[in-house]
Amino acid sequence: MTLFVNPDRLQADFDAVSAIGAFEDEDGHRGVDRPALSPAHLEARAWFLARAREAGLETRVDAAGNHSAILRADRGDLTPPAPLPLREGGRKDELETRTPPLGEGGRKAEPERRTLLLGSHLDSVPKGGRFDGALGVVAALEALRTVQEAGLRLPVDLEAIDFTDEEGTLLGELGSGALAGSLAPEALQRPRGGRQRLAEGLARAGLDERRLFEARRDPASLAGYLELHIEQGPRLVQSAIAIGVVTGIVGITNYQLIYRGAANHSGTTPMESRRDAGLGASTFALTARELVLRDYDGCAVNVGQMRFEPGAFNIIPGLAELALEFRAPDSKRLGELEDALLTLAGLVARQYGLGLDLEPRGGCLPAPMSERAQAAIAAAADSLALTRTNLPSGAGHDAQSLAPITPSGMIFIPSRDGISHSPREFSDWQACVDGANVLLRAALKMAETD
Ligand code: GLV
Ligand code: MN
Ligand code: MN
Repeated sequence: MTLFVNPDRLQADFDAVSAIGAFEDEDGHRGVDRPALSPAHLEARAWFLARAREAGLETRVDAAGNHSAILRADRGDLTPPAPLPLREGGRKDELETRTPPLGEGGRKAEPERRTLLLGSHLDSVPKGGRFDGALGVVAALEALRTVQEAGLRLPVDLEAIDFTDEEGTLLGELGSGALAGSLAPEALQRPRGGRQRLAEGLARAGLDERRLFEARRDPASLAGYLELHIEQGPRLVQSAIAIGVVTGIVGITNYQLIYRGAANHSGTTPMESRRDAGLGASTFALTARELVLRDYDGCAVNVGQMRFEPGAFNIIPGLAELALEFRAPDSKRLGELEDALLTLAGLVARQYGLGLDLEPRGGCLPAPMSERAQAAIAAAADSLALTRTNLPSGAGHDAQSLAPITPSGMIFIPSRDGISHSPREFSDWQACVDGANVLLRAALKMAETD
């Protein structure tokens, strides 16, 4: 059977979710502001579950707040499961999230059924674009509806999943890390967004920090993970290629750097004897860039935030705090870059007579994508006569959390001007539909060969 997603329904969903947390920049570009577990993000997640229920899909929210729509595989000769009794005052969605124990109600024990996950994330960076993450979630939902409508019997359950905090406003790949079992308790103590923001977000979402780990899944229960995403870079658009088959995802490490100098009078303190923490921070940022350009091909460094204290026109900064992030395609390179940047930070401190605190703020390991998933994506693109190329991802994605526990793959479509994490982020609508069809067909291939 040759299946295609329903492009109108996909567009209606994409437009509906794009309206949640929407804003326009001064040039009229439309973006979304849905940082993880903000009210707008929670609204988008509720919208997703409602759309899944409308489609007659089972829904589920796990202990890490990952939101899922599930299309159960054909149950063969089993009689339908008896509904579980609702608790006094229980809500319908509580019923939906419970799985009956095996053999309950005199039914035959259910055969082991694995789950193929399709997904991405509905959170955005602050003042971000509409496509990053959301496209992958609505395409996953659409893939499930297409299979359901076609009455296709697959040997696996299909699950469209919206992961919690992919973007790292709080911690980064929190939901996918919890599901994969790689979320470490220590990481929750030093999240890159700060403890307070994490605690507030979890409380707003009704999540219990001590129970996040319960979202862990047995790898044996999974048949794989596929994610459709915009490229967020210029390679596909510049080479006019429709589909990127992702070969691997960069590793990311975060640090908070604090330079400590001496706040003093900006006019009377001699220039040559200042202990200017702002100067240290600025020198570090400039030199880190030169270091990566000179010695670390394929890697990246970013100082995404700098804060000076006390912070006034007429005071030499006594303290400067930097948000440092760096990326490399493999663990060896990531380790070497870490050593080089931390050494540089120390040299700069000495040069300006500053104190230095280095505080790790977690990160994500580099992850190669599965050969089988890459082959399924390539075959899907070929079946649609779409041009394709292999490429690595310089952006982080939930697929890198999933890769160590289940065959994982990613499909990229072109980003206009290679722009992302900005309201100017844009992908041609036909490219989005093509990507959704590749996701659907790659999923069928993965399911068949499981
Ligand atoms: C996620 O988009 C990241 O690469 O930071
Ligand atoms: Mn993303
Ligand atoms: Mn992103």
